Amino acid sequence: MTSADNEAAAGRVTLVGGGPGAPDLLTFRGWRALIQADVVVTDRLGPVEVLEDLGPDVEIIDVGKTPGHHAVPQEEINALLVRHARLGKHVVRLKGGDPFVFGRGGEEVAACRGAGVQVDVVPGVSSALAVPALAGVPLTHRGTTAAFHVVTGHTRDGEAVLDDVAVSCVTTRTATLVILMGVSALPGIVRRLLDAGAEPTTPVAIVERGSTPEQRVTRAALDLAAKRADEVGVSSPAVIVIGDVAADGVLEVPGERTVGERSG
Ligand SMILES: C[S@@+](CC[C@H](N)C(=O)[O-])C[C@H]1O[C@@H](n2cnc3c(N)ncnc32)[C@H](O)[C@@H]1O
Repeated sequence: MTSADNEAAAGRVTLVGGGPGAPDLLTFRGWRALIQADVVVTDRLGPVEVLEDLGPDVEIIDVGKTPGHHAVPQEEINALLVRHARLGKHVVRLKGGDPFVFGRGGEEVAACRGAGVQVDVVPGVSSALAVPALAGVPLTHRGTTAAFHVVTGHTRDGEAVLDDVAVSCVTTRTATLVILMGVSALPGIVRRLLDAGAEPTTPVAIVERGSTPEQRVTRAALDLAAKRADEVGVSSPAVIVIGDVAADGVLEVPGERTVGERSG
C-alpha cells in the first residue's frame, strides 16, 4: 500500500440526500452523518437551514448550482471531495432530494472509488415523489393510475426532451408523467404531447418550491398549462405532474368529486 493509499483510506465521503428542502424531511441517518462531518460540501437545493445547527469547526463549502449555471463544475466538485477525504476528513456531500435521482451522485461515487476513497450513500426523499405528495398529488391512485415515469425536462444542451415512453404515458393515460427541471421547457413539452395526440384536458399540476413556506401549486389543463405557468410566473425549482392524478379533487371520496372546470 502506498502512502497515498493510506491517506485516502483515512478519510471518507458520505453522499447525503437531503430531501426537497424542509429540514424535517432530512432522514435521521443523513442528520447523523452531518453532525459527524468535518467538511460539508452543499448544494443550493435541500435542507440548507440545518447547516446552521452544525458545530463551529465544521467547514461548509457551497457549490450550489442555479438553473443553467453550474456554480462549480462537476469535475471540481469531485476533486474537492477526494482532496478533503485524502486529508483524513469525513466529508459529507449534501444534495437536494436523493443523490441518485438527477443528482450526479453516481459521478461523485465513481470519482471517490477511482481515487481509492471510501464512499457511502445515504438515500434522500426525492422531490420527484415528495413534492407532488406535499401538494396532494398521488403519483399512483387506485382506480386512476397504477404507474409513474420520472424524466428530466432538459437534455445536456438545454433542448426540451420527452422520449417516446414519456409521451405514451400521457397519450395512453397509463402512467403519471413526472418532470423535473422542466419549467423553461414546458411550452415545448406541451406542444410535443398535444402533437402526439394527448387529450387537451389532461390535468397538469406544477408544484414550485415544494416543502418550503413558499410552496405553490398551479393547475391547468394540458393545452393551457404553458400559458397559465407564464401568467403566474412559475419558476424553478418545480416538479411538473401530468396525468389524471393531477386533477383537483382526485383525493376526494368517489361520488363527491366536484366537477372540474378547466382551469387556465
Ligand atoms: C438537479 S435536479 C435534483 C433532483 C434531486 N436529486 C431529487 O431527487 O429531488 C433539480 C430539480 O429537482 C426538482 N426539485 C428539487 N427540489 C424541489 C422542490 N423543493 N420543489 C420543487 N421542485 C424541486 C426541480 O425540478 C429541480 O429543477
